[in-house]
Amino acid sequence: MKIFLDTANLDEIKNAAEANLIDGITTNPSLMAREIKRTGLESDAILKKITELVSGPISAEVVSKNLTEMVEEARKLKKIAPQIVIKIPMTFDGMKAVRRLNREGINTNVTLVFSANQALLAAKAGATYVSPFVGRLDDIGNEGMNLVGEILTIFDNYNFKTEVIVASVRHPKHVKEAALMGAHIATIPYKTLNQLFKHCLTDQGIIKFDNDWKDANK
Ligand code: E4P
Repeated sequence: MKIFLDTANLDEIKNAAEANLIDGITTNPSLMAREIKRTGLESDAILKKITELVSGPISAEVVSKNLTEMVEEARKLKKIAPQIVIKIPMTFDGMKAVRRLNREGINTNVTLVFSANQALLAAKAGATYVSPFVGRLDDIGNEGMNLVGEILTIFDNYNFKTEVIVASVRHPKHVKEAALMGAHIATIPYKTLNQLFKHCLTDQGIIKFDNDWKDANK
């Protein structure tokens, strides 16, 4: 399973990229707004810097709502770097934009997906990626990961090439379940990436090895 980092924070991306564990990045308007405020940089400059740190796909989301404006905004974003993937919200106009961008060879990531039918429509429109938001479904008392299972089954039934990005990840259990289900990608916050390294027995083991070593080398 590929791991994307779900952040626009340049420090987080730089640090994660150094470990060579990150296959791509996803951003959204909230994450971009946070980084604009933190750095004072403009959004295009932030995206450009991200593309210099990570060589894989970088999702940048359109903020326009209607078809013509979404397509124009997508074309501008795509000019920042070839690896930019256009994130489009799951709406009727959004799926028309996906179809049009697909014909122009521009990769898309359909976002804010909360049902299997929405994912089916995104795949039929020709989306490169579809992003079910598991954490936000959990937040309202649903089982977010069940949706991922449904989407994987549907895509498998009809041999859709669209890849599933498990998004709105809240904790390591989401990541493990995504991998067990065979999701193509999980996009995870920096905090969750750090949690993936952790196990209390690893910490205890390091302390014990250290103590034993010091004891024998007094
Ligand atoms: C995914 O592409 C989104 O940027 C993200 O996963 C949303 O996560 P949130 O529900 O934690 O905001």
